[in-house]
Amino acid sequence: MAHVPSHRRGAGGGGARGGRDARRGRGRHHHEGRGGAGADGVLLAPPRPRPRPPSRAGRPARPRRAPGRAPGRADAHGVRRVRRPQAARGGRSRLTSAANAIARAVLRYRARYTLGALCLAAATGFSLAIPWTVKHAIDALAREGAGAALGGEVGLILALAAAHWITRLGSRFATIGAAQRVEADLRDGLYAALQKFPPEFFARHSTGDLMTRASSDVTAVRSLVGFGAISLIQTVLAFGGALAAMLAVDPWLTLWAMAPLPVLVLLARRFNVALNARTQATQEQLGVVSGRVQETLAGMAMIRAYTLEPRAAGAFAEANRALLERGVALAAIQARFTPLMSLIAGVGVLVVIWVGGQGVAAGRITLGDLVAFNGYLAYLAWPTVALGLTLSVVRRGLTSMERIQEIVEAAPPAAGEGAPLAGAPSLAFEHLTWGYPGRGPALRDVTFAVAPGEIVAVVGPTGAGKTTLGLLLARLWDPPPGTVSVGGRDVTALPLATLRATVGWVPQEAFLFSRSIEDNVTLGRAGLDVAAATRAAGVDTEVAAFPDGYATVVGERGLTVSGGQRQRLALARALAGRPRLLVLDDVFASVDAATEDAIVRALRASGLTILVMTHRLRVAQAADRIVVLENGSVEASGEHAALLAAGGLYARLWRRQQLEAEIARA
Ligand SMILES: Nc1ncnc2c1ncn2[C@@H]1O[C@H](COP(=O)(O)OP(=O)(O)O)[C@@H](O)[C@H]1O
Ligand SMILES: [Mg+2]
Repeated sequence: MAHVPSHRRGAGGGGARGGRDARRGRGRHHHEGRGGAGADGVLLAPPRPRPRPPSRAGRPARPRRAPGRAPGRADAHGVRRVRRPQAARGGRSRLTSAANAIARAVLRYRARYTLGALCLAAATGFSLAIPWTVKHAIDALAREGAGAALGGEVGLILALAAAHWITRLGSRFATIGAAQRVEADLRDGLYAALQKFPPEFFARHSTGDLMTRASSDVTAVRSLVGFGAISLIQTVLAFGGALAAMLAVDPWLTLWAMAPLPVLVLLARRFNVALNARTQATQEQLGVVSGRVQETLAGMAMIRAYTLEPRAAGAFAEANRALLERGVALAAIQARFTPLMSLIAGVGVLVVIWVGGQGVAAGRITLGDLVAFNGYLAYLAWPTVALGLTLSVVRRGLTSMERIQEIVEAAPPAAGEGAPLAGAPSLAFEHLTWGYPGRGPALRDVTFAVAPGEIVAVVGPTGAGKTTLGLLLARLWDPPPGTVSVGGRDVTALPLATLRATVGWVPQEAFLFSRSIEDNVTLGRAGLDVAAATRAAGVDTEVAAFPDGYATVVGERGLTVSGGQRQRLALARALAGRPRLLVLDDVFASVDAATEDAIVRALRASGLTILVMTHRLRVAQAADRIVVLENGSVEASGEHAALLAAGGLYARLWRRQQLEAEIARA
């Protein structure tokens, strides 16, 4: 029938599962034989350690907390911890909340959905009128023989068919259009939520998992609110209408015709379960395959440089083979069930012809009645067969919505716009001990302060904890309360918007968007002095030499800039926002000495409080004070000359860098 292909598309594209559900599915629905190889393929795993997917199954039920979401929201940005208390109790309440979320999304387009439902009701009415008209025609034939005038009936049937076609088209347009809008809203919401999470969240969720939620899960929900909605309404209307019509023809015959129905429903249920399990498995494997592609593209240079092509191709082929196997298993279940259900539906027709034929012979019903009855029965066959598919679309849509909600509901509030603190603030670390989740401390009892307008350099070898210090200060990771303060206020208590406006953070690995230089510096903020910022960052002459100056597009689809230029553009980006406190993370790593001096002069003239992390001691020498970090602990601090005289780690590093500079000059 007409909607088979559209459903197939829905089923294929939708219903993505990330690791969690699919794993659960795999555990329960054992895949025979070669399916197991596919499962191993998944566990063979991308080279990057996969953060453990938030798992509900097998997690001991947590003690119930008082209802309300505040505690969860406050303590973490993590999805797992944020789930509301009752959610731990079972799937039903989670599905209910997903269903509520879908209802809210759908209600925004209630006019379209109402129109769609009305059109569908009209279409059902028109198509149910066709067998009735046929019955009249046949009864007339039986009464009047070949001479019967059937022009009216033929015209009516044509008109009904046309009306059915138009109203059905209308229902499709209205509903599918609404579904597309719901999908767009979902994507927007998810995207907005993803913007708000701190790095901690992205460290726990693989890109693949998040991409799956943003793509296939959203599509699965669209299938639910589009095809699923149409199909559900249509099933209800068809059963209601056709059953009423059949009862009107002959209640006894109706009873006979419904005999195979329970078998059909049971079969549809089994089909639903099997289909679900295999779709989940396929979707999960699809995630693995796209993960491999993504990684290969990202690491193309490495793959080339180390001639890893055969290995990469092998790993891909293996994942792809597992995907093929699961896809075939999915197709097999569809191939096995659908004809079987048609067969059983066919048995119903057989029974009707047999019992009904006797009724006609006995004169209980007319031949026209029997033909019309068969027409209604045939009308019911599709919704019955499709019931399994419809239910599976609904279930997958709900599960996907749940996965989307997990992200959307866990999103912390956005920082928003805020005014910076007035004037250059002081900065203090007090007994700061902190480590990345699951690792030992990266910083141990770090205590030092920076006075307003002071420039302090944090030096130390790679891995000493310099970057970590900056991340905690900018609250890209949350430090323990009371350990980091800006302007005398604890950063964890300071509104995030104020902190972000106050602190200009320039990361070690600067990232440029694939936009113009100007956009990259302003980031859409209005009224900024781009020229002054690039001048202070010592990158203005280079920008002027670019083909289109400030309008030059950089990044993936534009001009490739050097690492040093990228860092200085990032510095310009920070300076343009007029922060009060600058945090520079190894910004001078690839800058020549003359540019470095010019930048340092400009920074000193700015009067900002500056914390500059560097492993290059030449920059440190220009600072007011130096803090030496080793293995996460403050080893020494003081002025350049004093630290040299003390002869510790700083003096050793200094001597080595002097030597390196001499060798480089020679
Ligand atoms: N995202 C992370 N997850 C876990 N450990 C990390 C992460 N980033 C850094 N580390 C560890 O923290 C320590 C300090 O690193 P980092 O602050 O980057 O040092 P530096 O910037 O001085 O080179 C190192 O041992 C490093 O391995
Ligand atoms: Mg670093």
